[in-house]
Amino acid sequence: MQVVTIGNRTDEPPKEETREGNYFVSNYPPFSFWKPERAREAIAALDQTPPADTPLGIYVHIPFCRKRCHFCYFKVYTGMDATQIEAYLDAVRKELALYVERPIIGGRKPRFIYFGGGTPSFLSTKQLGGLVDEMKRLLPWDEAEEVTFECEPGTLTEGKLKMLHEIGVTRLSLGIENFNDELLRANGRAHVSKEIDRAYRFSRAAGFPQINIDLIAGMVGETEENWRETVRRAVELAPDSVTIYQMEVPFNTTISKEMRSHGEEVAPVAGWPVKRAWANYGFSEFEAAGYTVTSAYTAVRDPAKAAFVYRNLLWAGADMIGLGVSSFSHVGGTHYQNEHQYETYTDRLINGELPIFRALTPAPLERFVREFILQMKLGSVSRPYFLGKYGVDMNEQFHFELSAIRDQGFLTFDDQGARLNRQGLLQVDRLLHQFFLPEHRNARYA
Ligand SMILES: C[S@@+](CC[C@H](N)C(=O)[O-])C[C@H]1O[C@@H](n2cnc3c(N)ncnc32)[C@H](O)[C@@H]1O
Ligand code: SF4
Repeated sequence: MQVVTIGNRTDEPPKEETREGNYFVSNYPPFSFWKPERAREAIAALDQTPPADTPLGIYVHIPFCRKRCHFCYFKVYTGMDATQIEAYLDAVRKELALYVERPIIGGRKPRFIYFGGGTPSFLSTKQLGGLVDEMKRLLPWDEAEEVTFECEPGTLTEGKLKMLHEIGVTRLSLGIENFNDELLRANGRAHVSKEIDRAYRFSRAAGFPQINIDLIAGMVGETEENWRETVRRAVELAPDSVTIYQMEVPFNTTISKEMRSHGEEVAPVAGWPVKRAWANYGFSEFEAAGYTVTSAYTAVRDPAKAAFVYRNLLWAGADMIGLGVSSFSHVGGTHYQNEHQYETYTDRLINGELPIFRALTPAPLERFVREFILQMKLGSVSRPYFLGKYGVDMNEQFHFELSAIRDQGFLTFDDQGARLNRQGLLQVDRLLHQFFLPEHRNARYA
């Protein structure tokens, strides 16, 4: 997934109930500062030759799903027919073809590929084959260290999994979320638990180097007892990595629309302290089984084998070209986003244009803040790293904020950097807004 963010405000007391609004911080400066009138900055960035040591990655957004989950805020279409899907894939192929002619590629080959959604596994093997063959022809994957592919368990067949393995997927990510059929149904998921077991068995048999599973702590109807059972079954599967999200109820989801229609302000899910406790329980159980927590959301069985190249490179300033409707890119120091409607996205490609909708080129201090914020989500940040890369002393720049978070008991810092403790890590997204520059606080994020 490419995550869109909004956020709670730091100058307000923490809202401990779950309310409507996005919480997860995925990028900086906030998206509301990216402007259509600055789209030409993206074009200019594509005409530069890249610094030799900047890694390149490709993100591909596949916006199709069997059903829209009640909590989902991603750009998703349900009910599109094969002709519409083929037209979309054709647009994605055209988009990549426009990029490979640009100086910014500079002879680089992608170090990571990420198929996110929506549901990439919604595609048939034929659709997938047509897309991947052309992608590889245009920009070979032979130097890719990681190819991630997001899957909804009910869309997987043995044949599709074999094909995913053959085309070079190294990290298969399964959106399991929960094992309880009643809960899955109540949250609008298309899959049931029987499909999880099947999909997992076939995925293991196909031989992927890394299988990740996603869980959500605090879905509608979740209870302490059921969450413990979900964690028990997840540990039993022995995935190579697990991602535990805490349920948020973003704007424009089915749940938030329901809330509005009933005039309710508090979402029908557990409050943040309970969700944190559940996520903590999940991580502790995985730790007891030998896993290592490597970010606010992730635990891995063997850190040497389950690096998350996409996250690590992106959060350290890599270039990433985002293909597809509403995709986000970060290239040559400029952020931009594609057109966010199917029709406008495909129309612009039919006309031979890059479908760039809005852009922003952050100033050096904003680039520092972005990287600092993203790396905080890994649990620690290095002062020498930021001094060397940006010439900014994080302890001076953020003395007030780091001290405040330390005084709340969530963090320690010294001349080497800052480290969040587990309680701090579990609520890092709420804490991060304090590091925004003043002009970006209290701004709408999306
Ligand atoms: C694009 S989906 C993964 C692939 C596939 N679409 C699926 O759902 O199985 C990315 C993940 O985001 C998480 N997610 C989506 N909406 C969320 C929300 N409102 N709160 C917390 N996590 C959420 C889910 O764990 C989901 O698996
Ligand atoms: S399957 Fe995944 S992308 Fe699709 S609606 Fe559900 S959470 Fe969103």
